[in-house]
Amino acid sequence: MDITGLSAIVTGGASGLGHAAARALAAGGARVTVLDLDPERVAAAAAEIGCHGIACDVTDAAAVSAALDGAEAVNGTIRIAVNCAGIPGGMRLVNRDGPVDMAAFARVIDVNLLGTVSVMTKCAARMMAAEPLNGDGERGIVINTASITAYEGQIGQGAYVASKGAIVSLTVQAAREFMPGGVRVMTIAPGLFRTPIADFLPEEVIDRLLDGRMFPNRFGDPAEFGRLVVDIAANPMLNGEVIRLDAGVRLQAR
Ligand SMILES: NC(=O)c1ccc[n+]([C@@H]2O[C@H](COP(=O)([O-])OP(=O)(O)OC[C@H]3O[C@@H](n4cnc5c(N)ncnc54)[C@H](O)[C@@H]3O)[C@@H](O)[C@H]2O)c1
Repeated sequence: MDITGLSAIVTGGASGLGHAAARALAAGGARVTVLDLDPERVAAAAAEIGCHGIACDVTDAAAVSAALDGAEAVNGTIRIAVNCAGIPGGMRLVNRDGPVDMAAFARVIDVNLLGTVSVMTKCAARMMAAEPLNGDGERGIVINTASITAYEGQIGQGAYVASKGAIVSLTVQAAREFMPGGVRVMTIAPGLFRTPIADFLPEEVIDRLLDGRMFPNRFGDPAEFGRLVVDIAANPMLNGEVIRLDAGVRLQAR
């Protein structure tokens, strides 16, 4: 689809990969609304790239619906929805104190998985009710963010891995459900990007990661994630697939 003038929302858009996606979409001519938790960070991030911003917790279904209403009031029917809101979730399934705290596990699932599902389904419903954009009958696209950990299962990352693995699994399933409505679903599985969420990685893990097992042998630049978001939106043949954006890295067990 030609993204020029199309209404786009980006969750987690005040930071890291989401902010880079919002910036790239805005630079490509889309009318972007940034959604994130903190009103001040949202306002600053939106001002920086000249777009609209709404504070919203993706785990609050009513707040998501209200934020989507707000985005559509300013920028028109949402045609591009990018899910980047997410939290880390380091915890062993069984540690010295016993089995994992289910409330902590559920919190990661709630934000990373259920937040993504909530925004995806609410946006897809709006897209499917709108007029087609072109001769293919495209009405919109949802781009979700998983992680390469969905495939590689690091020790101590069970909750995060489970949340991201489910996003991977849902990609083709949701794409199939939304096909009659002209809505595509794609997922990006990033490798290692230097954003605030990566700060929880211990230095020795970072040193191990950057030891020549990927090319280029560096953290990804969030702008490279933003560029892929725009490319995916633009290319109608991309649907129901997960793209690893990871410089070829394969993570070790720990
Ligand atoms: N940085 C990486 O290396 C990397 C690798 C793989 C996957 N990811 C995924 O990419 C996505 C973006 O991560 P990032 O690296 O930009 O991290 P980040 O911490 O810079 O950005 C995440 C944003 O999500 C927001 N957020 C958290 N909970 C929210 C909620 N309940 N409602 C609304 N917003 C909420 C945060 O406020 C933050 O601004 C995440 O889903 C993350 O799991 C990142």
